[in-house]
Amino acid sequence: MAVTIKVRKDGPYLVDGEFTLIDHEGNVIEAKPGKNGNVSLCRCGASSRKPFCDGTHSRIGFKGAEEAAAAFDAGKAGTSGQV
Ligand code: FES
Repeated sequence: MAVTIKVRKDGPYLVDGEFTLIDHEGNVIEAKPGKNGNVSLCRCGASSRKPFCDGTHSRIGFKGAEEAAAAFDAGKAGTSGQV
């Protein structure tokens, strides 16, 4: 089965399918799918369970890069891309 990675709006990457997650030292990280069958990988950088999402993105008001880039293009954000 092919792996599908879905970018959740202002949230994690949802990975569906068989894959192997490996850390920077080459060790395999066990990735258990959640109730929806996906593995959620943190995109905001604030999870205490990296590389997995722990829901912190909601509490910190994370905005995905796609929105930041659009705001930047529209001249509504600073040079950091923050909205
Ligand atoms: S994307 Fe959910 S905690 Fe970072």
